[in-house]
Amino acid sequence: MSHYEVQKKRRAQFIEEWRNNFKTVIHLQDVEMHKTPRGLATGVYLGKDGDRPVRTVDAAAHEIEPGAVSTVHRHSWDAVMLCVGGNGWTEIDRTRIHWGPGDSIHLPAWSWHRHGNEGESWARFMSFSSEPFIDILGFAILEEGGHSPVSQLGGYPPYSSPGPGNDVYARRIRRLASDQGENRRGRLHTSWDELEFLQSPRGTRTTFLLDRAVGYRTSGLTMAMFEIGPGRAQSMHRHSGEAWLYVVDGHGHSFIGSNADDGENYEWGKGDLIVVDHYSWHQHFNDDKSMTARVVRVHILDTLLNTMNALCYPMNLLEEPPDHIRSRQTGDLTTIVWPAVQRPNWP
Ligand SMILES: [Fe+2]
Ligand SMILES: [Fe+2]
Repeated sequence: MSHYEVQKKRRAQFIEEWRNNFKTVIHLQDVEMHKTPRGLATGVYLGKDGDRPVRTVDAAAHEIEPGAVSTVHRHSWDAVMLCVGGNGWTEIDRTRIHWGPGDSIHLPAWSWHRHGNEGESWARFMSFSSEPFIDILGFAILEEGGHSPVSQLGGYPPYSSPGPGNDVYARRIRRLASDQGENRRGRLHTSWDELEFLQSPRGTRTTFLLDRAVGYRTSGLTMAMFEIGPGRAQSMHRHSGEAWLYVVDGHGHSFIGSNADDGENYEWGKGDLIVVDHYSWHQHFNDDKSMTARVVRVHILDTLLNTMNALCYPMNLLEEPPDHIRSRQTGDLTTIVWPAVQRPNWP
């Protein structure tokens, strides 16, 4: 067979097989928690190790029992944590951060990190990492440090400092050193108590939890919380996959379809993960007439999905309906009654 035929067959086979991995909602009860040698109980929402392959970002839940301290480890990819229940701590390169439900944390690539719980009840957090993407490129490395003190473990990979000159090699060293320097000085923690919610034209009240807009330097991973008013909906849109929505509180359903008027409704509740993974039109509805629904959206749009957008141009991978249809979908925004902002709880 010629190069052309080999390639054509390989590409067709890839997408044919990949279609079997399309997902809609991963329900809390379908995520089995398993004790791990790290000293945590972990369950995979999305990821190869839970037999739900993804190509950009994975998602898992972790629980720490009272009094437990996990082993320390590090990896060549970064991850973000969304704390959802109990009170725990996370050490990042020996700096201990105490957290409660609703807090967000960034675990930078190559940082040594471990988790602990000094409280009386179980603590639980979600993690979302760039491992699938880094793994696709062949650069995924994990180093387990057991219970060794971090001072006895290896440091960050070294890099050359910028020198004089304006030749292409000097420019490259300067550019990469500057990027690495900034990556290693990014923000690590957002406390729930600092958050300020603002109403958006898409019909929800929102805030960034963890994003470059609020000082983080990630692989592109970002988390924002949005709250849907009682009985209300977010307006419909579509974008390149894979984007996740973790349901912090409430229950509702999502319309997901290949066309704005051709799709199915999928129900969700607290602890579920809504998946929008193949450029489908989607709209999220809060089915509770008296309570808001709070959802955290996670994606890697700033880097990876934007690269897809650039590579696919002039295809438009980020589409919203025209303003008049959008306002029909959200209803009169001035009539939404927002409750006082309170920390989430678990279960
Ligand atoms: Fe980790
Ligand atoms: Fe979306």
